[in-house]
Amino acid sequence: MSSLSRRNVLSLGVALGLVGAAGVVPGLASASAAAAGTDPWWAWDDEIDGIMAGILDNGGVPAVNTAIKPWVNNNHALPSGLPGNLSAYLAKTNKLPAWADRDKLRLAADFNRRKDTYLFMLYGLGSGIMSTVIPREAKSVYWSAGGADMKDRAAKTFTFGYDLSDLNAFEPSGQFVVTANKTRLVHAAVRHLLPQSPHWSAVADEPDRIPISNGDILVTFHSLGTFVHKKMKDWRVPMTAAEETAFLHSWQVAIHLLGVRQEFIPQTWAAAYAQSEQVLTPILAPTFEGRELAEDLLGLTAQIDLGVTRGFLNEFVRYVLSDAIGDWLDLRRDYAAAALIRTGWPAYIAFREGLIPVMPVGFYLFDQLIRSIAMLFLNNAGSPTTTPITIPTGNRPG
Ligand code: HEM
Repeated sequence: MSSLSRRNVLSLGVALGLVGAAGVVPGLASASAAAAGTDPWWAWDDEIDGIMAGILDNGGVPAVNTAIKPWVNNNHALPSGLPGNLSAYLAKTNKLPAWADRDKLRLAADFNRRKDTYLFMLYGLGSGIMSTVIPREAKSVYWSAGGADMKDRAAKTFTFGYDLSDLNAFEPSGQFVVTANKTRLVHAAVRHLLPQSPHWSAVADEPDRIPISNGDILVTFHSLGTFVHKKMKDWRVPMTAAEETAFLHSWQVAIHLLGVRQEFIPQTWAAAYAQSEQVLTPILAPTFEGRELAEDLLGLTAQIDLGVTRGFLNEFVRYVLSDAIGDWLDLRRDYAAAALIRTGWPAYIAFREGLIPVMPVGFYLFDQLIRSIAMLFLNNAGSPTTTPITIPTGNRPG
């Protein structure tokens, strides 16, 4: 890491409240940890990675995509017509882990439903834009096939969070277990495909290294679950201890289903915050790909009438993430909007949660904004139809 980016890291970490007062960013796991198999950056998803590589090399992906299309609900039988090794693999993985606690998952679903407007806002404008300053993720997303159609991709990726928060997500009639398994297949395909992309290889920090390691997935989890939890705490959104634990549990199950090994999954919010400090904060940085993606994403939201100007949206992103990130992404300033957000947003939440009796200035503006963003999610980011998750057969051409 260059000294400049390390400085950025520190200031950003402080801004996000993720770095301790001493400004110490713990180092990433050591080479000896890698050798011992205890480093998530050197752990992938070996069994399915091998299976998908074989299917890709044999040209079998279109047939697999056709077969998995009608397979949607958790209680659907596995599709017929899959290669034998893929069927055998899915028979093992397409279920909740033994440690999943259904009561916690139900409480998490109920909590998510009650707080959904904040969640949409935070996943969409917070995590979504943060993903563009996670260099390895931004480069992978940009140079994979889906990077060429951000509208479609944003719809599919952001609805992952929504599917996770569906009341029935983990129930037999729900869809989350299947969605997560399909995503796991997509990630396995991407691990085989991206290293063949000359564009990705030219910009990858370590071109020989396979993308989407367990470490990368943990980073993304912290940009989603841990970030959202922290913001809701910061914003004093009322949460019971049981709800907080349940929310973490739903994410623990989600990342397990995406192939993260048990020993890397944080067991408490304290452990998650510590891991986030270690693996997320130090790596945030701007890239060409990330800037393009951020512009695409914010342009996408600008196409919908959110009742606010693009300047207001820029300032909201700055407020939720930090000015450092806003500067990296060249988000044009609107100081009047910034002032309104700084005082109006906390008051809006307090009023909405029944913590203050008087309706604050700007209430309707914020209310329309969060409702419009929720609608954007519920309508799959403006796509007229839900696009099923499909396994890519190639990379972004250029
Ligand atoms: C695809 C979610 C981590 C890169 C997808 C899809 C979902 C998803 C739902 C399928 C949507 C689609 O077909 O476009 C997640 C979640 C993650 C995670 C919930 C972690 C909690 C990562 C990480 C990377 C990554 C760490 C890269 C470093 C990609 C790429 C695709 C993809 C390149 C394929 C897009 C294409 O079709 O070209 N992910 N992902 N993901 N993901 Fe992830």
